[in-house]
Amino acid sequence: MKNIVKQSVLNVLPYVGGKPIEEVKREFGLKSVIKLASNENPYPPSPKVLKAIEKAALDINRYPDGSCFYLRQELAKRLEVNPAQIIFGNGSDEIIVMAARAFVRPGDEVVIASPTFLIYKIASVLEDANVKAIAVTPDFRYDLDAMLKAVTKKTRIVFLGNPDNPCGSYIPQKELEKFIKQLPTDVLIFIDEAYFEFVQAKDYGNAISLVKKYQNVLVTRTFSKIYGLAGLRVGYGVASIEVVSWLERLREPFNINSLAQAAALACLKDQPYYRKLAGQVEKERQFLFRSFESLGLKFVKTYTNFILIRVEEDSSLVCRKLLEKGVIVRDMRAWGMEHYIRVSIGMPAENKRLVKTLKEVL
Ligand SMILES: Cc1ncc(COP(=O)(O)O)c(C=O)c1O
Repeated sequence: MKNIVKQSVLNVLPYVGGKPIEEVKREFGLKSVIKLASNENPYPPSPKVLKAIEKAALDINRYPDGSCFYLRQELAKRLEVNPAQIIFGNGSDEIIVMAARAFVRPGDEVVIASPTFLIYKIASVLEDANVKAIAVTPDFRYDLDAMLKAVTKKTRIVFLGNPDNPCGSYIPQKELEKFIKQLPTDVLIFIDEAYFEFVQAKDYGNAISLVKKYQNVLVTRTFSKIYGLAGLRVGYGVASIEVVSWLERLREPFNINSLAQAAALACLKDQPYYRKLAGQVEKERQFLFRSFESLGLKFVKTYTNFILIRVEEDSSLVCRKLLEKGVIVRDMRAWGMEHYIRVSIGMPAENKRLVKTLKEVL
């Protein structure tokens, strides 16, 4: 079969996610394991969300509503956009893949940061794109001038994680708009706001306002992070009706299952619960910043629910030692950063255990 598989498929390696808790328990014979590896929300869903899932479960013999009618209406109202400007994805991951499939031809160019979220590259390479990865600045911010210089007539998409993963830094709204204005109008500007709800910074904006001004801007968000529905897979993109109409042609007919639709709708309607969670994450982030400082660690002061940390030893070794003690974190080797690990912000007891274990291991 190797003779018939497409070259672009041979050019990528499978995405490897954080290890599941159960697997680590089995592998190391541990009773208690914490996972701080996949930037998930550690808190349980709101009781209203659980109730909505329970109710929707009674109808799972039926196919889901392929158009996500109720969720679409509610989101459109909240975001003040036309319902036809929204595309849903099985996680926002799927929208990244759809965008690359729709707009990138073999030999076209895609501009990304380095390091950045791995799926931008995987999705682009699968379309036979030439990926130009532009190093972030020494303080882990996007180098927008260098990214602009990398754009040529062949560029089809510029991916901007805002804030990005793994660095956790953001692009202030003014800089973002200045950048967009300088780009040709036939380049899709993909602004990934998976961590939008966590950012508390005055100069961080709201890219949906840019969708209203620029036809070539696509903004994605997700229910996997602050809303804690990573296991149900639901994300969305907002763009011009025209861009959404192209993406709709590629969308799998029933990509958002009925439990995910019901849960996402209930999340939107339970804002106080999730705002409180964002406040808790912020508090814990400050705790971890203080703890890492007292351990003498170098780390990035992120605006998200994860933190990038420099370790003097080999990152794989550090991750392995943490695993043996039941703490799963992300090895940054897959990003080519062999002296970095990334930790997600967990619940208070989990964060305390992380700090204690890091102290032992380092
Ligand atoms: C920057 C960024 N974008 C998108 C995603 C994808 O999230 P999902 O597919 O769960 O919506 C992630 C997940 O970790 C991410 O870090």
